[in-house]
Amino acid sequence: MTDRNQAKESPEKKAAGIYAASLVKDGDAVGLGTGSTVAYTIKELGRRVREENLNIVGVVTSYQSEMIAIDAGVPLTSLAETPRLNIAIDGADQFDENLFAIKGGGAAHTREKIVSMSADRFVVVSDPAKKAKTLSVFVPIEVMPFGRALVMQSLKDIGGDPTLRAAAKKDGPVITDNGNFVVDCTFGEIKDPKELAAKISQIPGVVEHGIFMNVDEVVIGNADGTVEII
Ligand code: 5RP
Repeated sequence: MTDRNQAKESPEKKAAGIYAASLVKDGDAVGLGTGSTVAYTIKELGRRVREENLNIVGVVTSYQSEMIAIDAGVPLTSLAETPRLNIAIDGADQFDENLFAIKGGGAAHTREKIVSMSADRFVVVSDPAKKAKTLSVFVPIEVMPFGRALVMQSLKDIGGDPTLRAAAKKDGPVITDNGNFVVDCTFGEIKDPKELAAKISQIPGVVEHGIFMNVDEVVIGNADGTVEII
């Protein structure tokens, strides 16, 4: 488990994460996202498996979530074995009222997109601070190392300000679970996420960007344990 999931307890994230676990039904195949919010969901699913005999299988989006799920006792499968999922649950870095979201703060957005697009229902879990009128946080972009120079230049050409993500406490770049680099690119206020997503996808060397357009609902947790759903 990484530092990211050993972050200090957040009652808001906990409320959202635990509520989302209640949306999972017996017999479901569940996509398990990455990050500190969905870590609460995974642990709660493990509790339901142990204490309520909940019969589920999970598909993880990262080695980080795989470790949490194994620790929690959530049975796992793969998309190769279970290509269609009933529900996927994941965190986000920011979302707007149209349910566009930016993900990839944990460098796992490529697998997160594949898993969420494989699910009939995609639920984002969040604390209230990530709700925005207009998306504006940096967009994480997974990039083939060989193509990084072209990708950086092309992102500048479409108005972005790209930075290669550095590994914490190490010299050198973050390496994703897929063996690639991550470029974090700011674009200011993102007025048209769909248009920007299409422009980024056209750049050779881009593996996947963190703009998500397939969110069905967002569970926002409050400090008092209640949730709001949009
Ligand atoms: C990982 C993600 C995370 O879901 C996102 O960064 C939110 O993380 P957290 O729940 O820790 O705030 O997209 O790639």
